[in-house]
Amino acid sequence: MATGQLIEMKDEGREAFAEVLRFYELAKRREWQVRDLPWGEVPPIPEGKGSPQSKARRRDMWRSVLTQQLQADMLACDMASQLLNIAPDVEAKLYYSTMVQDESRHTEAWLKLVTEAGGTAERDPHLDKLAHTTLEADTLEEKVFLMQVFYERLIISRFRLIARSARGTLLEELCGRLATDDGIHHGAGMAYERVLLQNLSKKMNQKLVDAANRLLPEFAAHALWRPRERAWIGRAMESRDVERLREDLELGVRLAESLGLDVSGVQLTIP
Ligand SMILES: [Fe+2]
Ligand SMILES: [Fe+2]
Repeated sequence: MATGQLIEMKDEGREAFAEVLRFYELAKRREWQVRDLPWGEVPPIPEGKGSPQSKARRRDMWRSVLTQQLQADMLACDMASQLLNIAPDVEAKLYYSTMVQDESRHTEAWLKLVTEAGGTAERDPHLDKLAHTTLEADTLEEKVFLMQVFYERLIISRFRLIARSARGTLLEELCGRLATDDGIHHGAGMAYERVLLQNLSKKMNQKLVDAANRLLPEFAAHALWRPRERAWIGRAMESRDVERLREDLELGVRLAESLGLDVSGVQLTIP
């Protein structure tokens, strides 16, 4: 760890952080509690129809979806607290103090939901690799880029998809709240990354392009991953999934471009 001041508070150039502070205020206003969800009033996950076997199969499929989200939010706790600790600027630290709380609240909600749904299923190995890519990146610029610019934006469409197939359940309600929260996490990350990249060097541009080229194939593998419990729906949806993934990855590249990066070195390979 570096020595010196815990927080940097130089007087000059603080206007650049106004947007980051705006997201801090927004996060405080949109804060919610796990107890606000309608526990006991609506079913945790869709109940399913048909024979006991097909109901059990559906239930296993949903448990697998919940497990993946629980895993993602536990890893997000690690990444958010790393950002809180290494970001030097007071405005960013304030914001990250709210993001740590959000990711921990998301984890609490998934833990309760997955328990109500009958327990966890298989762990997604690609999510672990995605998190390690971010946690082990050399610079703050890369970490904010990987987690907030890319991952938290790309995951929002997945929450909408899950919500749409889980009408009238706790899962739908939770996905709606998480889509809002991750929208704020993404917006704050874009705002901070703009400040960090004010004097973007060729070397940093290359670092970020390399980081994107490490992350994107892993995100693709994560999005298309089908554990045993979901293998039966995997094939039916494969071409739609690939199409959706292509749109997601292209959005990622446009976001990088909007930060002023030269993205000509980004490789979009879809399996
Ligand atoms: Fe989260
Ligand atoms: Fe998040």
